[in-house]
Amino acid sequence: MATAGKVIKCKAAVAWEAGKPLSIEEVEVAPPQAMEVRVKILFTSLCHTDVYFWEAKGQTPVFPRIFGHEAGGIIESVGEGVTDVAPGDHVLPVFTGECKECAHCKSAESNMCDLLRINTDRGVMIADGKSRFSINGKPIYHFVGTSTFSEYTVMHVGCVAKINPQAPLDKVCVLSCGISTGLGASINVAKPPKGSTVAVFGLGAVGLAAAEGARIAGASRIIGVDLNPSRFEEARKFGCTEFVNPKDHNKPVQEVLAEMTNGGVDRSVECTGNINAMIQAFECVHDGWGVAVLVGVPHKDAEFKTHPMNFLNERTLKGTFFGNYKPRTDLPNVVELYMKKNRSCNSAWLCTGAGGGEVHHAQRPVRRDQQGVRPDGQGGGHPLHHPHGELDFAV
Ligand SMILES: NC(=O)c1ccc[n+]([C@@H]2O[C@H](COP(=O)([O-])OP(=O)(O)OC[C@H]3O[C@@H](n4cnc5c(N)ncnc54)[C@H](O)[C@@H]3O)[C@@H](O)[C@H]2O)c1
Ligand SMILES: [Zn+2]
Ligand SMILES: [Zn+2]
Repeated sequence: MATAGKVIKCKAAVAWEAGKPLSIEEVEVAPPQAMEVRVKILFTSLCHTDVYFWEAKGQTPVFPRIFGHEAGGIIESVGEGVTDVAPGDHVLPVFTGECKECAHCKSAESNMCDLLRINTDRGVMIADGKSRFSINGKPIYHFVGTSTFSEYTVMHVGCVAKINPQAPLDKVCVLSCGISTGLGASINVAKPPKGSTVAVFGLGAVGLAAAEGARIAGASRIIGVDLNPSRFEEARKFGCTEFVNPKDHNKPVQEVLAEMTNGGVDRSVECTGNINAMIQAFECVHDGWGVAVLVGVPHKDAEFKTHPMNFLNERTLKGTFFGNYKPRTDLPNVVELYMKKNRSCNSAWLCTGAGGGEVHHAQRPVRRDQQGVRPDGQGGGHPLHHPHGELDFAV
């Protein structure tokens, strides 16, 4: 490509300070170095993790920064030593990478790559400790190795999954974080047996996908737990059979769930980021066999407190990033699952169009013609400041 090896000037939504509206700026994006790729981002969506680190309440502040990690794009150019992707390939960026060489990448059980695992405090590239983004020579920091709120971004090759070029990037971009995370948390980690009962705490995009994963795995009762009752109707489409709003009860929700299920749920998946919900999700599983899976990203000072007897009574607590999927190896297959199911349309998040807006308001990839929420928070009605109202992400 004509731009290969050159600096590209493009638009990006820059977060100058914690909690301040993002501002659309012209940034310079340096060419990719060894084992890096530069990607033209065509669609990006918003995950709650972006918001947490933008608010930086209880998170390490790294500013100015370009957020965004749930996206789809096309390789523009590659750095030295990159052999498994080439310009023109369709890719999904992933916030946690896969080097394919470390002990974790070689283990069938782990996706916690030693080199490229999620690092929310690092704002620079691993190769040289520098940022590839700048404005007038001043560095603008990266976020989780992806920074997709930019028309072009540079990533380590281990943080991109090459996918079927037939897959619609405006839809499958949500598979690069929230949907795969929720699906995998249920299917790969909680592994509910057929006919079992599963509680899903938090019915945002991740929780809806966790409910969907529980349904796919064969759970027969799926209890959605959320403080916001407006989530319940939508969650029904994703497999939830019952709902509990902790605010409706004057006893702890773990007791409410135990009463509903003759002693506790078989599996629970926590998708809120709230420490109390994490503890509740553990304490509501049945003794003897119950397994709880934590997915939400907690406040950095959060402490998990529970009585050790809860473990002795043979309950298991687990946690996962990205639903235990290995990004480069497994994500292309999740995209294939989407392609296959999309044809038969037997899955709620496919029928309603993952990424099309119906899944969850915050998960909508925004194109210029769709008038998303603007950087000043006006224009779309969503309380989060969607940075993309004015960027041209149309294919
Ligand atoms: N582990 C991972 O790999 C991974 C990946 C993506 C997102 N996440 C995290 O998963 C979480 C969910 O992400 P999302 O984008 O779906 O968020 P979201 O904000 O869209 O949804 C969260 C839901 O949880 C509900 N909630 C909040 N506190 C609650 C409580 N105490 N009890 C019950 N419900 C409660 C909210 O009402 C909301 O509906 C976030 O913490 C996000 O950072 C983790
Ligand atoms: Zn995310
Ligand atoms: Zn690795």
